[in-house]
Amino acid sequence: MMHNNSKRPLVLIVDDNPTNIDLLVNTLKADCRLGIAKNGPKALAYVGEQLPDLILLDIMMPDMNGYEVCTRLKEDPRTRDIPVIFITALVEPAHKTRGFEVGAVDYITKPFHAGEVRARVKTHLALKRMNEELNAQNIVLEKKVAEKTAELEEMLQATIRAMALTSEVRDPYTAGHQQRVAELACAIARKIGFSKDRIRAIHFAGLLHDIGKIRVPVSILNRPGKLLEAEFDLIRVHSQTGYDILKHIHSPWPLAEIVLQHHERLDGSGYPMGLKEDAILPEAKIIAVADAMEAESSFRPYRPALGIDHALAELISKRGVLFDPHAVDACVALFKEENFQFVAGRPTILENLPDADLSLQE
Ligand SMILES: [Fe+2]
Ligand SMILES: [Fe+2]
Repeated sequence: MMHNNSKRPLVLIVDDNPTNIDLLVNTLKADCRLGIAKNGPKALAYVGEQLPDLILLDIMMPDMNGYEVCTRLKEDPRTRDIPVIFITALVEPAHKTRGFEVGAVDYITKPFHAGEVRARVKTHLALKRMNEELNAQNIVLEKKVAEKTAELEEMLQATIRAMALTSEVRDPYTAGHQQRVAELACAIARKIGFSKDRIRAIHFAGLLHDIGKIRVPVSILNRPGKLLEAEFDLIRVHSQTGYDILKHIHSPWPLAEIVLQHHERLDGSGYPMGLKEDAILPEAKIIAVADAMEAESSFRPYRPALGIDHALAELISKRGVLFDPHAVDACVALFKEENFQFVAGRPTILENLPDADLSLQE
C-alpha cells in the first residue's frame, strides 16, 4: 500500500534493546513513520517535540520503567489521548493488569509475531482516528447548538417584547408597566436568592403578566374615575385570559401558571382561584409584590401617582396578609437601602423601546 509520507501515522518505539528496536522497525516501517527513544526520559522528551499517533512501550528499562513513562503520558493533557501499547517480556497476569491500570490500551508479550503487532497497531490507530473525528464533529456540533440557542433566545426575547407591546398599545396609561414590574420582580427575586434560571422565568412572566388585558375593553382600561364592580369583574378575567394565551407555549418554566396566579393573595382573598399561602407559586408572589408596588407608585387614569413612600407603606401594611413577607422585605430594602429606581420608566411606544433587560445582568 502506498502512503503519502505526511499522512502515514507516526509511531514511537520506546525500548532499550537495539535488537527489539530493529525487529519492530522492520515490522512497521512499511505502514508507519517511526520515531525511536531508547529510554523513558528520551521518550518524554520526544513527545515534547512532536506528538506520535501511537506509542509502543517496553516496560523493563533502566532509569525509568515503562509504567512510569505511561503514567506521565496519561497525566499530561497534551499526550493523554495517545494510545500506548506495552510490548514486553513480562508475561505475568499481574504485570499486564498493572499495564492497563496505568492507561495502556493493549499489551503484547515478547517474543512477538510481526503480523500480530501490525494488526494491533493498525486497530488502535484506527480507533484513535475515529475518536478524533468524533471529537471534531462534537466541537462543530456544540458550536452550532450554541449559535442556534443564542438565535432562539433572541427570538424569544423579541417575541415576548412584541407580545407585551401588543397588549400595552391599547392601554397608554399602563404602558411600560409590565417592563417595570419585570424589572422590580427580578431585583426582588435576586435579593431573596433565587437561581438565575428562576429569575429568567420571573422576567418573562413579569413582561407578560397583564397580557390578558387584551380582552378587556379599552373603554374600561382607560376610563377615569372609580370602576364599577361589574367593570372590575371584566378586568379580573385578565389573569385567566393570560393563562389561556400562554399555556400552549412550551417553555422550561410555568409561565402561564405564574401569570394566572399574579393576583392571588396569601389570605385567599385574591383571584381567580382564591389560592392561599403555599398554594401560590413563589414566582407569582414576587410578581404580585412588584405589581402592587409599581401600580401604587405610578399614575393611573382615576388618580394621580401616589409616590414610592405611599406604595411602600401600603405594602408593609399588607405584609404577611396579602403579600409574601420575604418579597415585601426585599422590595422595601431595594427602595430604602439600595435606592432602586425603575429603568423602564418611559412609555414603551415602538420607537422608544427600553434597552435589553439590565435586570438580568450581573
Ligand atoms: Fe394584573
Ligand atoms: Fe400588572
